[in-house]
Amino acid sequence: MTFKLRNLFLLLIACTSIVTSQKTGIPIKHTTKTIRVKGGEIIDCVDIYKQPAFNHPALKNHTIQMKSHMYSASEQTKTLPNSVSSSKVPSQTWHKYGRCPNGTIPIRRPSKNYSTNTMRRRNEITNANHSFSVAITEGFSYSGSKANIKVFKPFVESNDDYSSSQVMIRNGPLRSFETIEAGWAVNPRAYNDDKTHLFAYWTVDGMQNTGCFDLNCPGFFQISDDVFLGVDITDYYGSDITIQISLDPYKHNWWLTFNDVEIGYWPGEILSRLKSQGTLVQWGGEVCSPKVGTHPGHTSTAMGSGQTVDFFGGAGTISKMLIEENSHELKHPEYFFTSSDEWDCYDQYLRKYDVPEPVFYYGGPGSRNNPRCP
Ligand SMILES: *[C@@H]1O[C@H](CO)[C@@H](O)[C@H](O)[C@H]1NC(C)=O
Ligand SMILES: *[C@@H]1O[C@H](CO)[C@@H](O)[C@H](O)[C@H]1NC(C)=O
Ligand SMILES: *[C@@H]1O[C@H](CO)[C@@H](O)[C@H](O)[C@H]1NC(C)=O
Ligand SMILES: *[C@@H]1O[C@H](CO)[C@@H](O)[C@H](O)[C@H]1NC(C)=O
Repeated sequence: MTFKLRNLFLLLIACTSIVTSQKTGIPIKHTTKTIRVKGGEIIDCVDIYKQPAFNHPALKNHTIQMKSHMYSASEQTKTLPNSVSSSKVPSQTWHKYGRCPNGTIPIRRPSKNYSTNTMRRRNEITNANHSFSVAITEGFSYSGSKANIKVFKPFVESNDDYSSSQVMIRNGPLRSFETIEAGWAVNPRAYNDDKTHLFAYWTVDGMQNTGCFDLNCPGFFQISDDVFLGVDITDYYGSDITIQISLDPYKHNWWLTFNDVEIGYWPGEILSRLKSQGTLVQWGGEVCSPKVGTHPGHTSTAMGSGQTVDFFGGAGTISKMLIEENSHELKHPEYFFTSSDEWDCYDQYLRKYDVPEPVFYYGGPGSRNNPRCP
């Protein structure tokens, strides 16, 4: 099904890539309780059947799926002997300040700075202002991907920039690809702080007119009352989080799982190319800034840990990179290729010969104390 997202969404900015809908009010409607977390984070408990996704025109009649039809993530992990799932249950600091009542889900209230007047339309070259260092596999039909991503808190130079590390599934050509992705991000404009947050992002037109983080535009259904998109994951600095994105073949919904907890899903109704398969899976880091690609004057926003892969022990690290093809069996991709838009600013290295399974190291400091990237 195709529909005109353009009519629904207002505008988006270059880097925070947020689209707001005219209907998604701030604060969020149907809030039954508000939890204020020390440090300024505000969590609204919203009736699960009235969550923002229902504001999407294609989702008016959507029946919420409370659980995926897939094997539980832990069962899947067992099928792959090498895969050690990160067993650390999300530590939910916010619980100290309250819980959401039954039948409601926690939604992080977006930063006020997300006002439409800070947003600018963007319809030039698709990947301008984005610098990626990634490992990619393609050539098959993908129905899922999983990886462990080490969490860091890279320096982000300004509120116009963000730094993220993610698992991404994509289908479609350059200007109209659809992607769904999730991982961690330091994004001051979106989160109003310089901490690391769990994020999800999707676009259905190659990031031209659509694309947004978390629940900031209608689309993603959140099911978990425990782990929410945008949650502060400061407690994980230096350790791994496990991100899995898997297609439920019966409902065509793409489920997002964080450390074996099902957070929710992107429903098939909002997707067309990605509705039944991905054609490319990508793992790695991204820096978005108006100052990428320019020398001198490159941004000092860091990617990964901010260290280059010369010290790969301390660089951004993604391990246990697995894919699902049409069966829901996780396996190693047959091959990877790697790519860095700006190797002199953000490097990468796929280590595969002296390790039981490939490990991807990536990132760098941008221009900060880095003569290679003035
Ligand atoms: C939702 O259901 C109503 C009433 O059955 C129908 O008129 C409408 O077209 C449906 N909307 C969508 C997006 O399926
Ligand atoms: C919420 O639901 C759970 C499981 O159904 C139940 O055990 C619990 O008592 C309920 N809590 C409240 C406050 O109703
Ligand atoms: C948000 O806006 C306030 C007030 O305009 C400003 O002081 C603050 O620096 C902004 N924060 C971010 C992260 O943009
Ligand atoms: C890149 O950033 C510059 C400066 O903010 C902006 O003018 C331009 O529109 C951006 N390009 C894209 C494609 O977003």
